[in-house]
Amino acid sequence: MAQAELDVIAAEVRACRRCKLYRGATQGVPGEGPAGAEIMFIGEGPGFHEDQQGRPFVGASGKFLEEMLAGIGLTREQVFIANVVKHRPPNNRDPEPDEIAACAGFLDRQIAAINPLLIVTLGRYSMRKFFPNASISAIHGQPKLVDGRPVVPMFHPAAALHQQSLRQTLLDDFKKLPRFVARARERREDIARGGTGLPPSANATASAATAPAPVPPPTDEPPAPPTQLSLF
Ligand code: URA
Repeated sequence: MAQAELDVIAAEVRACRRCKLYRGATQGVPGEGPAGAEIMFIGEGPGFHEDQQGRPFVGASGKFLEEMLAGIGLTREQVFIANVVKHRPPNNRDPEPDEIAACAGFLDRQIAAINPLLIVTLGRYSMRKFFPNASISAIHGQPKLVDGRPVVPMFHPAAALHQQSLRQTLLDDFKKLPRFVARARERREDIARGGTGLPPSANATASAATAPAPVPPPTDEPPAPPTQLSLF
């Protein structure tokens, strides 16, 4: 059962000594939320307040995250909130590659246990787990399928607290979430019925892409760019 697996992971995180981070931390912060959450948010790592309380996103960033959730009719109790690293990096420094690698198994097991409809990454570190070479400025707010599940990269709430222009960007990206979740739910239901999970327009594009291409009449026009399959 998913909750039992999440409890096992949380206990392992609290006892974890796989990297150096535990040495400077008060306690591990496994993440929290219902095992059946439809949306999973993944941040970077615990900060001061998270380290004190053993809970994710309970400081200023968490307050802003809760405000944004409220703006789309959700509470934090309805979503799962986790981090890339589960112990606080000293002085809130960026997590290092060996620390992220040491913690990756916990996050992967949380994702597998919850099997959320949609993953939202908050900040560059969680984005890189799914899109290693992407620039967050280029891809924020755009869902892309990763292992069959939509992942939506977003800016970190802390960045938006420091930079006013990012605040509106993040709010705008959040507003799109209900539509993405509805589409992800339809997709999962369609796949359960044996469908492709793609919207009808994309199905038409996909079958057109596999059908033999008609030979175009000679023209001086440059060829049109390839059509991207639209998932949402
Ligand atoms: N920032 C994060 O990335 N995670 C938290 O849990 C808190 C702040």
